[in-house]
Amino acid sequence: MESHKNPTHKGNFFAVFSYFRKKKTMYIGLQHAHSGLAYLALLALIGVIFYALYGALTGKGFTEKDRKIAMVAFILAHIQLLIGLILYFVSPKGYSLLASGSAMGDAAARLTALEHPVINIIAIVLISVGYIRAKKLTVDTARFRSIYMFYAIGLVLILSRIPWTSWLG
Ligand code: HEM
Repeated sequence: MESHKNPTHKGNFFAVFSYFRKKKTMYIGLQHAHSGLAYLALLALIGVIFYALYGALTGKGFTEKDRKIAMVAFILAHIQLLIGLILYFVSPKGYSLLASGSAMGDAAARLTALEHPVINIIAIVLISVGYIRAKKLTVDTARFRSIYMFYAIGLVLILSRIPWTSWLG
């Protein structure tokens, strides 16, 4: 009975309210970051693919500068992965949709709750393999080839599972 007069009782209500408000703000912030960084990550991937293709075709030597250029797209893809992973558990279009069991019957829901995350994780693993292989290989053309081939496969996979209508629509 006393608990109704207890200020902490009232305090709990505001704590819960503030928790949900913060969670919503966090969701919107992450959604904007993920949406904006997607442009940079995709542009960097396209740029590096053409750069590495040019390097392989002209037969130029693979330098430390070339590795750093490839690393830009590698890092951007990993930041996108990190934001995506957090977003997945904060967004109503992510894990909660999958857990509710209603994602499978609807194409748009299946895309953000399952296909987009899984395919993008595979794509980023492939991009990482391309970058790490290029560091280990010794033949310059093979190093450039490792980058443009693995990055290109990763890019195609990413593009195949972007929620285009919610992003640009
Ligand atoms: C390079 C990799 C990735 C790219 C380029 C990318 C790009 C995008 C884009 C463009 C959207 C639509 C944003 C909008 O509607 O404004 C999106 C949404 C989303 N992404 Fe990614 N993403 C990537 C990786 C990931 C990963 C690895 C995960 C999770 C493990 C993930 C989880 C999500 C979720 C849950 C949404 C829906 C967010 C919402 O609107 O509530 N993404 N992503």
